[in-house]
Amino acid sequence: MITNTELEQKGNQFPADIISYKKNVDTLYFETSNGVTLQLTVVRDSVLRFRYTTTSNFDEDFSYAITKYASTGYNHLEITEDKESYIVTTQKLICTINKLDLKISLFDALDKTLISQDELGFHWEESFQYGTDIVKMSKVSHDGESYFGLGDKPGSLNLKGKRYENWVTDSYAYGKDSDPIYKAIPFYTGLHHAKAYGIFFDNTFRAFFDFAQERKKVTSFWAQGGEMNYYFVYGPEMNDVVANYTDLTGKPHQMPALWTLGYHQCKWSYYPESKVTAVAAKFRELQIPCDAIYLDIDYMEGFRCFTWNKEYFPDPKRMVKELMDDGFKTIVIIDPGIKVDKDYSVFQEGLDNDYFCKRADGPYMKGKVWPGECYFPDFTNPKVRDWWSGLFKELIEDIGVKGVWNDMNEPAVMEVPNKTFPNDVRHDYDGNPCSHRKAHNIYGMQMARATYQGLKKFGYPKRPFVITRSAYSGTQRYTSTWTGDNVATWEHLWIANVQAQRMAMSGFSFVGSDIGGFAEQPNGELYARWIQLGVFHPFCRTHSSGDHGEQEPWTFGDEITGIVKKYIELRYQLLPYLYTAFWHHINDGTPILKSLVLYDQADVQTHFRTDEFIYGDKILICPILEAYSKGRRLYLPKGIWFNYWDNMPSEGGKEVWIDADLETLPIFIKEGAIIPKYPIQQYVGEKEFDEITLDVYYKKGKETSTLFDDAHDGYDYTKGRYSLRTLKLTGKKDELIIQQHKSGKFDAAYKTFKLNLIGLPFKISTIQIDNEEIKFEDIKVNGDNTLVVDKEFTELHIMA
Ligand code: GLC
Repeated sequence: MITNTELEQKGNQFPADIISYKKNVDTLYFETSNGVTLQLTVVRDSVLRFRYTTTSNFDEDFSYAITKYASTGYNHLEITEDKESYIVTTQKLICTINKLDLKISLFDALDKTLISQDELGFHWEESFQYGTDIVKMSKVSHDGESYFGLGDKPGSLNLKGKRYENWVTDSYAYGKDSDPIYKAIPFYTGLHHAKAYGIFFDNTFRAFFDFAQERKKVTSFWAQGGEMNYYFVYGPEMNDVVANYTDLTGKPHQMPALWTLGYHQCKWSYYPESKVTAVAAKFRELQIPCDAIYLDIDYMEGFRCFTWNKEYFPDPKRMVKELMDDGFKTIVIIDPGIKVDKDYSVFQEGLDNDYFCKRADGPYMKGKVWPGECYFPDFTNPKVRDWWSGLFKELIEDIGVKGVWNDMNEPAVMEVPNKTFPNDVRHDYDGNPCSHRKAHNIYGMQMARATYQGLKKFGYPKRPFVITRSAYSGTQRYTSTWTGDNVATWEHLWIANVQAQRMAMSGFSFVGSDIGGFAEQPNGELYARWIQLGVFHPFCRTHSSGDHGEQEPWTFGDEITGIVKKYIELRYQLLPYLYTAFWHHINDGTPILKSLVLYDQADVQTHFRTDEFIYGDKILICPILEAYSKGRRLYLPKGIWFNYWDNMPSEGGKEVWIDADLETLPIFIKEGAIIPKYPIQQYVGEKEFDEITLDVYYKKGKETSTLFDDAHDGYDYTKGRYSLRTLKLTGKKDELIIQQHKSGKFDAAYKTFKLNLIGLPFKISTIQIDNEEIKFEDIKVNGDNTLVVDKEFTELHIMA
């Protein structure tokens, strides 16, 4: 081989000294003597954007990730310079740009702590394989720094010492060390000296992240093309980092309909109709709550999307209605591959309108998926998304399907080594034509977006429900997600826990795993332990490949059925709590699952914990992850926590042993919490109730809880027809005070709260509601410590 030494020697190239600087409102441009330009935009006081070009031209500024609803604007912006640097100061951050080499340092504006510092900083390498530049960034990894985030990566929560790749990939039966898998979320949080910041590398090309793996003191990220374009998001609280990132890439566009937070039952596949109805009937017979049942690919005619196999499902509309009458919402799968078949209208329409992806040299991109040879819509073309959304008319409007499950949208292609399209496939990319190298990671996201638009259009005024397998940053605006084809093993139960937490800290909270495992079959113990975890994930669905037997709640004998029922019932009781957590999530970007590090970053003991997490803001969950366990050690965060099962308080800030026989999942409630609970229903909306329960956990001191409610579907809540109750608890030695403040115009059907007082350190003798003393002679302290109050009370005093 003839090698060109000239090219080889170039290797990494670096920016030289700054020769010019200009400012345009919120954006600064620094140009170096070797033609590099840094464009620095102050998005907010705590969010700075860095873009680099080596050719004086920036690409068209277009991103699928960034939402048009992102907050912008700052309170303070000052630019100064000294001998070495330019200095940009906002209310939250100080950013210095070195005049000699364009290196960046970022400091907390208040206490001047160094938060992030370029090591080599921006550099690039010419790639003769791709004919473009590989864009690179490296930063100093600080003493004791930890890293979190990055979407669905299946390894330990703390990313330190690991290297990962972002290239969405169909990953049947992946494992702890598999990488990359289904999602590409190029966002991570760094944490050191009790301060957290985030980096969102908004580049859709195949990208890599190294967290002090290759070199101990260095963290780096790079991509095989596109721009070095990243956002620096400052906290210093990790919760704010995640919330600010979520603000940038978007919160879900609406609340989920409450039924979507119920239990879902799925399998590959339930067919024919008699099988579907038998499964549904069994749920009602055993009184195991369930809201949704899924049809996998076999409902279609030869796996053609938007068709029905009339032999298995002779009258889908009738079936869907009958299921609905019994409280079951029908959800169907829709894949991207459209069968090549000239007698198939969807194929023909796509062809006539030139909607399918093509190879660089002209022919259609042809790949094999379930239906055999397929063409694939170019979802990055707005016209194609529009067409696609229109295809849902019949399913949603006429037949009454309530949700759509998008699968294989990496896009997955069978029988080819790279499992997807070749790199040269062309995409519209919303008017920025490009190859698959750039569009691959967002293809599935754009499919889910088009599906979402269809459901929104034809389901209106109901809220849309979509599930996707592949995702890029921002996909959370349109859809929920699951973690793909896992396996029925204990290791995968561990992975499911990690993935759900990691997704939540990556801005994507509406997530769950295939409960029990997709491939192979769990035994009863594993299924029970998985349900115990799964009911505390925002999306809760049992799914399995069906190759290895049944996986319904009643499959594993009476004991397991009883346990599964108990936990699904608990999920239904806690629906108002979960719904309220979603409300916080869609308003503030707060993740619904909070890993302990996110909950209490100041406590260094949380930095390497993986198993425990906070569900919402008041409930600690720690799954049992090993066979035959009768309990486990877990870390209770600082503060006092009540064991949910026996109401015994424990002091946190330490590891404790907790007994947990097969019936028991360790659950702890934060002291001072007020947890709302519904009566058990078989599906959302089955019952109208006049009362809901509030579990009130005593605390000496103050704690605030919230309760959100609305019509549970539709958009009235966006016009003020919601109710948000703030419940302030103040506990003293001999008194417990609850103050309630309500906002919003919605009035729920229930009239009263049943207060269940837990951990009161005194015997009640007097109760005052809104300044009036009420008779309460027969309240039983330490027994059934409950009382019923009108839901509109404003101040309640419970006294010794
Ligand atoms: C893929 C999906 C799985 C689905 C199957 C058949 O493997 O990940 O959930 O059941 O395809 O559609």
